[in-house]
Amino acid sequence: MKIVLEKLTKTFPGRGRKNPEDVTAVDDFSCEIPDGELIALLGPSGCGKSTTLNLLCGLESPTSGRILFGEEDITDLPPELRGVGMVFQNYALYPHLTVKQNILFPLENRKGKDRLSKEEMESRVMETARLVQIEELMDRRPKELSGGQQQRVAIARALVKMPRVLLLDEPLSNLDARLRLKTREEIRKIQKKTGITTVFVTHDQDEAMSISDRIAVMRLGVLMQMGRPQEVYDDPLNLFVAKFLGTPPINVFEGRVRDGKLYIGEEAVLPAEGLADQEVFAGIRPEGFILQEDGPLTCELNRVEIMGRDISVIASHPACAGQTLRAIIGAESKVDTASPAVRFALKPGKVLLFDRETEERIRF
Ligand SMILES: Nc1ncnc2c1ncn2[C@@H]1O[C@H](COP(=O)(O)OP(=O)(O)O)[C@@H](O)[C@H]1O
Ligand SMILES: [Mg+2]
Repeated sequence: MKIVLEKLTKTFPGRGRKNPEDVTAVDDFSCEIPDGELIALLGPSGCGKSTTLNLLCGLESPTSGRILFGEEDITDLPPELRGVGMVFQNYALYPHLTVKQNILFPLENRKGKDRLSKEEMESRVMETARLVQIEELMDRRPKELSGGQQQRVAIARALVKMPRVLLLDEPLSNLDARLRLKTREEIRKIQKKTGITTVFVTHDQDEAMSISDRIAVMRLGVLMQMGRPQEVYDDPLNLFVAKFLGTPPINVFEGRVRDGKLYIGEEAVLPAEGLADQEVFAGIRPEGFILQEDGPLTCELNRVEIMGRDISVIASHPACAGQTLRAIIGAESKVDTASPAVRFALKPGKVLLFDRETEERIRF
């Protein structure tokens, strides 16, 4: 099921003296989510991710704009008629019901022509349980399950309705690091198997990069950029997106363009032909540094971390104030750790320039 958001806006009115200001949680959000894809809605806390999901499932109604599922305008359709499955951060399982009863619950409350026979319900529940691999746990209660198992039950409960759209709001944030990795793989597998168009909310860029077909990056209610993970990483539209994606993060230098060259400090580090003289931010990805004895960028060497396949060089530079510089280079490179300085050449494709004022990308 394709999802289209058209100029979707949600403003919460200010309330009383404590919160006098209106908050526009979702601001003129337009995008198209292709049928069968998994989209990560990525952004910092408070940027409007949950509100966007709540608009999609019908828990909130928009101030303006439209939502389409396929060709159908569902903006004013009540939640139960939208055919969406929703999974929340805190699972929200019924504690007094068994796993099986929890999954059955959404089916038992159906009315009229949507009612299923006992046998149909039973076979749907078992099929869904198999899909998320919890067949052995059907008679337990939620408190007798691990966090990962509880989350799978919550996903089964959302899937048993055979929704047109699956919405997941930070579904992994209550799990420990290892389980988070494993569960995200499982969610991806289940999504691929079922082919259900899925919106997955997260503030974790690594999670977003690793499981989604496309990433939509949000900031202050506004969609900053949407694209394939690698595209958004390689070709960010602005400094915010460049900084939000990537671990270790992009290294941001104050630089300037003079006479068709990029300067960092006093050193011309790259050609920048065709660009007018201007002040810029130069973002250098950690993998954009080449260790080179006579390289143009001279940094103060702080320390070196050996990470098996790679070496992480931690350094500093006056034009990169307030940020510890991190370069990732191949383990075959020899860094002279006794030296106070380290010199780099730069890979042009890994250096991104941004306007100093607007922080918009400058292509060169
Ligand atoms: N019901 C509400 N009433 C007023 N403000 C809200 C409400 N829900 C969310 N907000 C505000 O909208 C903004 C976006 O919130 P939210 O969608 O929960 O962000 P996220 O999920 O990205 O952390 C925040 O500033 C939040 O305080
Ligand atoms: Mg949220």
